[in-house]
Amino acid sequence: MTDKIAYTRQDDIAVLRIQNPPVNALSQAVRQGLWGAMDRAEADEGVRAVLIVGEGRAFIAGADITEFGKPPMEPYLPVLCTRIEASPLLVVASMHGVSLGGGLEIALSAHYRIAQPSARVGLPEVHLGLIPGAGGTQRLPRLAGVEKSLDMITSGRQVKAAEALDMGVVDRVSEGDPEAVGLAFTRDLLAEGAKPRPVSELPAAPAIDWDATYDAVLKKGRGQISPAKAVRAVQAASELPFAEGMAKERNLFMELMETDQRQGMIHAFFSERAVGNLPELKGVAPRELKAIGVIGGGTMGAGIATAALLSGFDVVLIEMKAEAAEAAHGRISGNLSGALKRGKISQEKFDTLTQRALTVSTDYDALKDVDLVVEAVFENMDVKKEVFGKLDAVCKPGCILASNTSYLDVDEIAASTARPADVIGLHFFSPAHIMKLLEVVVAEKTAPDVVATGFALGKALGKISVRAGVCDGFIGNRILATYRTAADHMVLDGATPYQIDKALVDFGFAMGPFAVADLAGLDIGWMTRKRKAPHRHPAERVPTYIDHLCEEGHFGQKTGEGYYLYEAGKRAGVPNPKIAELVAAEQASLGITPRPFTDEEIVRRYMCAMVNEAAKVVGEGIARRPLDVDMTLLFGYGFPRYWGGPMKWADIVGLDTVLADIEHYASEDAWFWQPAPLLKTLVAEGRTFDDLNKDAAK
Ligand code: 3HC
Ligand code: NAI
Repeated sequence: MTDKIAYTRQDDIAVLRIQNPPVNALSQAVRQGLWGAMDRAEADEGVRAVLIVGEGRAFIAGADITEFGKPPMEPYLPVLCTRIEASPLLVVASMHGVSLGGGLEIALSAHYRIAQPSARVGLPEVHLGLIPGAGGTQRLPRLAGVEKSLDMITSGRQVKAAEALDMGVVDRVSEGDPEAVGLAFTRDLLAEGAKPRPVSELPAAPAIDWDATYDAVLKKGRGQISPAKAVRAVQAASELPFAEGMAKERNLFMELMETDQRQGMIHAFFSERAVGNLPELKGVAPRELKAIGVIGGGTMGAGIATAALLSGFDVVLIEMKAEAAEAAHGRISGNLSGALKRGKISQEKFDTLTQRALTVSTDYDALKDVDLVVEAVFENMDVKKEVFGKLDAVCKPGCILASNTSYLDVDEIAASTARPADVIGLHFFSPAHIMKLLEVVVAEKTAPDVVATGFALGKALGKISVRAGVCDGFIGNRILATYRTAADHMVLDGATPYQIDKALVDFGFAMGPFAVADLAGLDIGWMTRKRKAPHRHPAERVPTYIDHLCEEGHFGQKTGEGYYLYEAGKRAGVPNPKIAELVAAEQASLGITPRPFTDEEIVRRYMCAMVNEAAKVVGEGIARRPLDVDMTLLFGYGFPRYWGGPMKWADIVGLDTVLADIEHYASEDAWFWQPAPLLKTLVAEGRTFDDLNKDAAK
C-alpha cells in the first residue's frame, strides 16, 4: 500500500479513502495503493464490504494526465478495475464532487454506487483526444444503454447525480458526509443480503446502426477522431464478450494515445490552466471590483455590459445621445433575453439585471463611483483620447481605465491621462458575452495590481485571459493580419477564396478566413488597410480587389454581399461571382498568371504564415510564452482545439520543416516571408516552442 490510501475499519466495512490532492487523480501510487488496500481488506478478518471514498473536493478526477505519453506503469487502471470488480467482498463507491474518466470507471467497477446530490459524473476523455480506457465504454452501456452512453462518451458531458440516478449509473442519491452516507448505504446493502454485482456480468446492450452513428459522430467532430473511435468501442461492448470488448477498448485507447490529436488536446488542457500563471502577478492583490463602467453601447459595449451583468457586477453604460442609449439598452436586453431563453437566468434575474443592476446614461458623471471602466467607442485615436480625458476627470482615484481597442496604441491612450499606471487594454472578442478570450494588454506604465485586476475580471467573467504587450493588433489580430494576408496572396496567385475556406475548414477551423471576414464586416479590414497605406513598404504585396467591393458599399453578411452572397435570413452564403472578376482584373494588371493550389499547400502556407508571425510575437515579448499564442488562437479565432494551437502544431510538424517551408516561400516574396529570428534560433538549438513553455514554468 502507499500513503495515498488511508485504510480504516468501521465494524465489518473497510473504508478506503483516496488522498491525492487536489483532485485525487489516479497516479501510479494511487492505483498501487488501491490494489494493496483491496488485498488488505480481503485478508482482514471479519470484513464483509469495502467502501471507496475520496478526500477533498472530488471523488476522483480520472487518470493522472501528467503520466500520459510516458511508459505505462503497473498496476494498469483497467486491470485494477477488473480486480476491484472481481472482489468477493461487496464493493461500494460513495461519490462527491466530480467522478470523471478513470474515476467513474473505478466507481463502475464497484458493485453499488451512491452519490451526493451535487456530484457530477462523466467520461470526458474525448476532450483529451482519447476514449475511456478502463472499461468505461464496456460497463456504462450495460447500465445505461447504448444511446445514453454514446451521448455521454462522445460529448464528454458531465451528468448531475439526479440524471445519473435516472440512467441507472448510481443506485442512490443522498446528502451528507460522503463516508457517512456511504457507510449507511453499505450497511443497508449488507442487511438486505446484497451480493457482489459485477456490471461486466449484466447483459450487453442491443445493437444500433453503428456505421451510420460512426459517420455522424465523425462529421460532428469536424476532424476530431476520438469521439468516432468511442462509437467503435461501444459497438464492441454490444457485440463481443466482456473480456474481448475490454481488449478492443484498450487497443483503441492505446492507438489514440499515440496520436497528434491527443498531444494537442492535452497541451490545450494544461495551457488553459497555465495561461494566467504569470510570475509578475504572484502575491499582487487585485483591486476590488463592484461596479463597471462601459463607454459606448454598440456591438462590443453591449456585449461587455451583458457579460459583466451576468457575472454579478453593477454596470453604468454611457452613450453619446439619448437614442443611442436607448438602442444600447435594447441590445443588452436582447442579449440577456437570449440567456433567459437558454435557461441561464430566471425571469426575476432578468428583471433585476435590466432594471436595477444596469444604468444607461449620456452623462459621464454617472461614472463617479465605478471601479473600472471599459471604453468601447469608435476605433479612432482622437475619439479615444477625448473619452479618456473625460474619464480621467470624472472617475474616482484608483478607478481603472481600460480600452477595448482592437489595434490602437494603448501607451498613447494612457499618455492622454494623468493616471497612466491605471490604464490598461482589455480586448474582448465579439460577441463579448459569449467569446471566451480576453487579451489583457499591458502598457508600458500599467501598474502590476491593475494587470492583476484585469485577470481577476477575466476570471469573474468566465474568460480565458491572456497577457499581451502593446503592438498593432496585440497577439491575436496581429497574427490574424499576417495569415489573412497569406490567404489573400494565394487568391492573387490562383486559389479561390472558396477553395481556401474549404481547405481550412477541412483542417479543422470553425470557419474559413473569407467567411469570417464576411461575418465580421469587410469595412474593418478596409479601414485598417487605409490606415496602414501610408506606412507600407514598397515591396509589400497588398491585394486591393476586395476594396472595390467595399467602395460599392458591400461589407459582407450585414449588407448581404461580400466574398459570398447571402440570401435574407440565411447565414451560409454562395460564392459571389463578382469576386472572380475583380481578382482576374487585379491579376491582369499585375501580370500574374494564376496557378493551381492543392489544399495541402493552402493549409501549409496559411499555417506557416501564422506560426512565423506568432514566433515574432513571442520573440518580441508581446506574448510571454508560445502557449499564450496557442490559447489566443484557440479561444478567439476558432483554431481547432485538437491541434493545441499553432505553436503546438508547429512543434508536432517539426520546427525545422516549418522553417524550411518559410525559407522556400521567401524565395518568391522575401519581404512577406522573413523568417522569425526566434524560429531560426530554436531550429539551430534543436529546441521546440514547448521547451520555451517549460522554461517559463520553472
Ligand atoms: N490528472 C492530473 N492533474 C489533474 C487532473 C488529472 N486528471 N485533473 C485536474 N488536474 C490538475 C489540474 O491540472 C490543476 O493543476 P494546477 O493547480 O497545477 O493547475 C489542478 O488539478 C486543479 O484542476 P483545475 O484547476 O482544473 O480545478 P477545477 O476545480 O476547476 O476543475 C476538474 C477540476 C473538473 C477535475 C478539472 O480539472 C478536470 O476536468 N480535470 C480533467 C478530468 C479528466 O479529463 N479526466 C479524465 C482523465 S483521462 C482518463 O481518466 C483515462 C481513463 O479512461 C483511462
Ligand atoms: P460600434 O460602432 O458598434 O459601437 C461604438 C459605439 O460607441 C456607438 O454606439 C457609438 O454611439 C458609441 N460612442 C462613440 N463615441 C462615443 C463617446 N464619445 N461616448 C460614448 N459613446 C460613444 O463599434 P464596436 O464594433 O462595438 O467597436 C467598439 C470598439 O471595440 C472599437 O475600438 C473596436 O475596435 C473594438 N472591438 C471591436 C470588435 C468587433 O468585432 N466589432 C472586437 C473587439 C474590439
